[in-house]
Amino acid sequence: MKRVGFLTSGGDCQALNATMRGVAKALYNHDPNTEIIGILEGYKGLMYENYKKMTPSDFSGILTEGGTILGSSRQPFKYMRKPDENGMDKVEAMKKTYKKLGLDCLVILGGNGTQKTANLLREEGLNVVGLPKTIDNDIWGTDLTFGFHSAIEVATNAIDCIHTTAFSHGRVFIVEVMGHKVGWMTLYAGIAGGADVILIPEIPYDIDKVVAAVEKREKDGKRFSILAVAEGAISKEDALLTKKERKAKLKNNPYPSVSYKIGAEIEERTGQEIRITVPGHTQRGGSPCAYDRVISSRLGAAAAELIIQGKYGYMMGFKGDDIVPVPLEEVAGKLKYVDPESDIIKETRSLGISFGN
Ligand code: F6P
Repeated sequence: MKRVGFLTSGGDCQALNATMRGVAKALYNHDPNTEIIGILEGYKGLMYENYKKMTPSDFSGILTEGGTILGSSRQPFKYMRKPDENGMDKVEAMKKTYKKLGLDCLVILGGNGTQKTANLLREEGLNVVGLPKTIDNDIWGTDLTFGFHSAIEVATNAIDCIHTTAFSHGRVFIVEVMGHKVGWMTLYAGIAGGADVILIPEIPYDIDKVVAAVEKREKDGKRFSILAVAEGAISKEDALLTKKERKAKLKNNPYPSVSYKIGAEIEERTGQEIRITVPGHTQRGGSPCAYDRVISSRLGAAAAELIIQGKYGYMMGFKGDDIVPVPLEEVAGKLKYVDPESDIIKETRSLGISFGN
């Protein structure tokens, strides 16, 4: 009989519940006596002993439910070695809870930062299995993360809705897409939504080229233009600055986000009417799409198999259509960016979509 802890950490996304259901179902099917402990609110629950014993019924009916039944919180990796406000050593506290619960392993669902901490716990001697969660699809070591495709559906729907109103009013619209420091979501939603310009962090934009793309559409008799802009999009000038210089520049920045800056610049140069839409956290909400339900169920079953075999210290990742265990030390501290030279970028360009460079 195994006793397994489940923990969801960092920003939530669709299919967290579907993934936990997958692990739980496969474990219970293998051994109905399996004990699952839900750690509440991510690593915080592990630090402060906030958990509950789960039963098979807890995992029923949650395949389609967004969010996480365990709750989540952000516990940045950089503060893990810093004591809390009462001087508590967070890493020692997490180890203590793990031991007190008598866990055989901890299943950790999360993004980059979460996997980094999972690796830290592995180094500290805990048995962990990671599962790749994030709408950003930026986890190193896996072709795909669950949540990504569901979020693209939401972002694409936002662009679709903008199309009709942009046409009616003959306006230029910017739809700002989440994705943190990478452009996967904007690229996919931009293509799926038929955007005219796609700006992603991996391809710093030249505002002159962005303006030229908008002006060309007007010259071609198009009534409107739609730009899909990643929240992390960056101009070619800013891309040359150091992190410190960029931070200093941002202090005097009057815009709430990069889209507003780009919008103001386009308006000033073209005189066209600009509107900005930021779907924001709606992109992380709602029910997982069918594709995410499939991959999260598969990832869950594969993680359970690893646990049954007693193999720990891995994150389950997709390589093509196969699920493979990737050592956590390889995953930790890296990001998976869009390659500006990749086929998808070339194909998108050949459709006439501008990357503003
Ligand atoms: O990592 C997922 C994500 O939604 C990013 O796309 C976004 O930059 C960030 O989280 C937002 O974080 P928060 O929910 O803490 O505002």
